[in-house]
Amino acid sequence: MSAPLPYVLILYYSRYGATRAMAEQLAAGVESCRGVEARLRTVSPVSPTCEAVEPEIPAEGAVYAGLDDLRHCAGLAIGSPTRFGNMAAPLKHFLDGTSELWLGGALVDKPASAFTSTSSLHGGQETTLISMLLPLLHHGMVYAGLPYSETEVMDTTSGGTPYGASHLAGKRSDRPLDELERHLVRAQGRRLARLTLALDAMRREAQ
Ligand SMILES: Cc1cc2nc3c(=O)[nH]c(=O)nc-3n(C[C@H](O)[C@H](O)[C@H](O)COP(=O)(O)O)c2cc1C
Repeated sequence: MSAPLPYVLILYYSRYGATRAMAEQLAAGVESCRGVEARLRTVSPVSPTCEAVEPEIPAEGAVYAGLDDLRHCAGLAIGSPTRFGNMAAPLKHFLDGTSELWLGGALVDKPASAFTSTSSLHGGQETTLISMLLPLLHHGMVYAGLPYSETEVMDTTSGGTPYGASHLAGKRSDRPLDELERHLVRAQGRRLARLTLALDAMRREAQ
C-alpha cells in the first residue's frame, strides 16, 4: 500500500462566507501541485454562554478541525475574517488549545501562511495577518508570505499583501473575490504546496 500524501491543512473561520471562499481557492492552488493534498477544516464559533455546545458536524462547509488534523499536517494555512484589526476569537480559541502540540514540537520546521478578509480597505488586513503569524512562529513554523514576484501584489486595488492573501469583502461582506485576489490566494496555495513538499523531504532526511 502506498504511503498517504502529505497534506496542507487549511484551517479557517468564516461567518459570512468570504474567508471560506478564500480557503477554497487556496485549496485549489495547493491541489494544482502534484504530490500534496489540501485538507479544509473550520473551527466552531465561540459563545458567551460557557455551556453552549455546537453540533459535531457544521450545517455546511468544512468539518471542524481536531488537534490531530494539525498535528499530522505537513503545511498549514490559517484564515480568519478581520475583527477589530485582529483574528477572530474562534480561530484564536482553537489555537489557544494547541499547547500539547507546542510542547511536543509537532509543527516545528513546517511551512505556514495566513489569509484574511475585511469589510473596509484599510480595516486591518496587514495587522490581522501579522497577528496570525505570531502563534505560528511560537510553534516553530516557517512563515511564507506572498512575494512581489507575484506581480499582482503590486497591481491590486483590493486584497493581496506581501504578508499573505487578503480580500476586500465590502460593507455587507458579500463582495466576491475579484480576479487579482483569486489569483493571489491561489498562488499562495501553490507556493505553500511547493514549500510543504520541500520541507517534508528535509524533515524526512533529518530523521
Ligand atoms: C466584531 C467584528 C469586528 C470587525 N472588525 C473589522 C475590522 O476591524 N476591519 C474591517 O475591515 N472589518 C471588520 N469586520 C468585518 C469583517 O471583517 C467581515 O464581515 C469579514 O471579513 C467577512 O468575512 P467572513 O464572510 O469570512 O465572515 C468586523 C466584523 C465583526 C463582526
